[in-house]
Amino acid sequence: MAELLPKPRPGRRAFLGGVALGSVAAFTGSHGARGASRTEIAFASAKFFGKETVAQVVEMYNASQSRVHVTYVELPPPSASTEVHQLLVQQLARQSGSPDVFTQDVIWIAEFAGAGWALPLDQEFGADVRKQYFPGVVQACTWGGKLTALPWFIDSGMLYYRTDLLGNEAVPETWDELVSLAQAAEKSGHARFGFLWQGKQAEVLVCDLVEFVGSNNGAILGPDGKTVMIDDDKSVQAVQFMRDTINRYKISPQDVLSWDEEPSRRPFTGGQAMFLRNWSYVYTIAQDPKVSSVVGKVGVAPLPHFPGGRSAACLGGYQYGVNASTKNREAAIDFVRWMSSPATQLHFATELGLAPTRPDVFDDPKLAQSQPFMQKLKPVFLGATPRPVTPKYAQVTLVLQSSVSRALADGNVKQALAGAKDRIAAIVAS
Ligand code: GLC
Repeated sequence: MAELLPKPRPGRRAFLGGVALGSVAAFTGSHGARGASRTEIAFASAKFFGKETVAQVVEMYNASQSRVHVTYVELPPPSASTEVHQLLVQQLARQSGSPDVFTQDVIWIAEFAGAGWALPLDQEFGADVRKQYFPGVVQACTWGGKLTALPWFIDSGMLYYRTDLLGNEAVPETWDELVSLAQAAEKSGHARFGFLWQGKQAEVLVCDLVEFVGSNNGAILGPDGKTVMIDDDKSVQAVQFMRDTINRYKISPQDVLSWDEEPSRRPFTGGQAMFLRNWSYVYTIAQDPKVSSVVGKVGVAPLPHFPGGRSAACLGGYQYGVNASTKNREAAIDFVRWMSSPATQLHFATELGLAPTRPDVFDDPKLAQSQPFMQKLKPVFLGATPRPVTPKYAQVTLVLQSSVSRALADGNVKQALAGAKDRIAAIVAS
């Protein structure tokens, strides 16, 4: 099998940047064969945090059968979405067939399909299989009428809160209520931080933006996918509120402007914060006594909204893709079928806190036991708001990341968003 795979090229270490050296071997297919009859394939995926690692799950697959051996290439965590994207684009654009299988953030599906890098999977996963998944996820995995990704997990933004600090108060449903409760918790000395979110100039800032703007009935793009709405009053008010959490209400530290998921999660599970906006993976960590000082004191709820608005959660999640240039199509399909199977999805949900994309697994009593909040928040997952769906998303997000970051730092919100509008309009029109 090894001779079918491309030879390493000089200089590739340089563009693989921070990826571990073991990864280079896997990308180039230079790993040794594990038994003559096994087809060797490489699987590249972002790294996830939980009680187990993706590598362990891959080993479960390797141990479950004797036809295929998968080498896992660990990419940076999903909070480094922009970097993970860049690594995959460089690799897929070479059309060398490696990695054979990869995982893709939901925001890359259109781009990878549009470029012809993701193998259409309709033949292998027909209508009878597709109906075993949530229809919205299947839709997100479909581009140009073809299924180009196989569902893995669904993510959505949510509000974590300290049940012990909330006492008899109701969980906040509006941002005003959250501000009052957060200020009271800080004032009483029970929490060092009222509310933590992610303002780093990175993909997660766009996720938080979708939620603040969406909860004020605003949007980045209109329903036609072309009209840019990011400088409408509703969006300007929402971004102003993001800044106000730091400068005016003083419920969020200045540090949130350089924090992504993990730096914002740590003070919360360390017992220093009242509220946290984050993804579903945090719950498992919050309940783990080895790393959390708030075990049994954490509730999860839909994010608050502005007056007259509705709670909005950003749609996230990763899905499997098969490299259109793979030389090991059958093995790759066998592997993604196993990875997306009910049993593996349940395992990812209970051990890594990644929400299933299959309704049957979502409703499984074993999931209710380990992740009770997931079933409670099922409408949040299923009603999550997508980021703009376009093959040019990689350009759109960079504009949003830099403009919103500038607005949060200097306070010229209207000006920054008007600039973003013009640049995004030019990108989506071309
Ligand atoms: C989460 C989401 C993903 C998002 C990323 C941003 O991993 O699942 O969709 O892009 O966070 O940091």
